[in-house]
This record gives sequence, C-alpha cells and structure tokens, in this order.
Amino acid sequence: MKRHYWGAAAAMIALMAFGHASWAQAPEGQVASKKWVTEAADDPERFRRIEKYLRGFDQPMWEVGERYEKLYAALVLENFELASYHWAKIKLTIENGTMKRPARRASAEAFLLSGTWDAVNEALASGDSVTAWRGFERARASCMRCHEAEGVGYMNAQPMFTDLAPRLDNTVSHKSD
Ligand code: HEC
Repeated sequence: MKRHYWGAAAAMIALMAFGHASWAQAPEGQVASKKWVTEAADDPERFRRIEKYLRGFDQPMWEVGERYEKLYAALVLENFELASYHWAKIKLTIENGTMKRPARRASAEAFLLSGTWDAVNEALASGDSVTAWRGFERARASCMRCHEAEGVGYMNAQPMFTDLAPRLDNTVSHKSD
C-alpha cells in the first residue's frame, strides 16, 4: 500500500474512535434500543425525554417562519384561502409555544394574538389583494416588534423580513389592468 493510503486509513480509524466516544454519551442502556421513550426507565424519565426533545420557543418559531414564507408565496399567487390557512396555523403554533415558554405569553398577546391576529385574518379573508397585502404588512410588523421586545431583534435581519416586502405597488397596477 502506498504511503498516503496509510494516512487515510489512520484518519478513518481516528474517525471511528471519535464516533464511538460520542455514542458512549447516550444514556445507559439506550445504545442497543431505538425505543428511546417506551423503553426508558420510568414515566418521569419518559416525560423528561419528550420535554427535552420538543425544546422551547425556537422550535415553534421555526414552523412560524416557514409558514410565514408560505403565506407570502400564497399572497403572490392570490391564493387567499391558503394564506388564511397558514395565518391560522401560525396562531396555533405561537399559542402552543407559549404553553412551553409562559414568559413569552405577555409579548405574544400584546404584539400578535390579541387584536392584531383578527385584523390580519379579516384582511386576508377580504379577497382583495391590496387589503390582504396591508394585512401582511401588519403581520410582518408584529413579528418584528415582538422580536425586539423579547431581546432577539437580530431575528429581523434575515431574508424573510428584509426581502419579503408587501407587494402593494405591483398589486395596484395589476388591479388596474
Ligand atoms: C412572543 C413574541 C414573538 C412573536 C409574536 C413572534 N416571534 Fe419569532 N421569535 C421570538 C423569540 C423569543 C425567538 C427566539 C426563540 C429562542 O431563542 O428560543 C423567535 C425566533 C424566531 C425565528 C428563528 C427560529 C429558528 O430557530 O430558526 C423565526 C424564523 C421567527 N421567530 C419568525 C417569526 C415570525 C415570521 C413571526 C410572525 C408571524 C414571529 N416570529 C412572531 C418571539 C416572537
């Protein structure tokens, strides 16, 4: 075998050893089983694992962000039913998120769940593009204000907020066709 093959073989052995060390971090008795919930020691341990795996506010927010982009895409296609669908799921997801992180509840209420959600919902259901885009504009502002209030203002500097602007101008010219 040539010299550099030996180097590659040594690197692979090192990788395998490293991989093995990280398996060893799994809880005792779990390595052989894929049933990480049903075969946990007892109920408190089962719930602890589920709670840990479901994480905090970041997980629902990830879904909210995904749906927010889909809501935007639906408005571009003037598919108002789909936009409303995502807006309803965004509400549900944020509500469920505050069950996990009650400290976020006050801001969620103040910025989105109270009057704002209904106003945006009505705008999306209006069937009128300009009104619907104004609703989107309001939704966008609510998301961003809550991020500021909750000390995560850096969330606003990402494409879903910087690039997905309401298409009010386009819509107006489209309407006058
Ligand atoms: C309660 C106020 C609040 C509202 C309302 C809110 N957010 Fe958030 N958002 C947060 C917080 C807090 C985080 C950071 C979560 C963490 O650090 O675990 C976050 C994180 C995010 C993230 C990053 C998720 C990730 O991990 O990739 C996205 C995307 C996001 N929000 C989108 C939105 C959108 C879109 C809206 C409006 C439809 C919105 N948020 C409304 C508080 C809010």
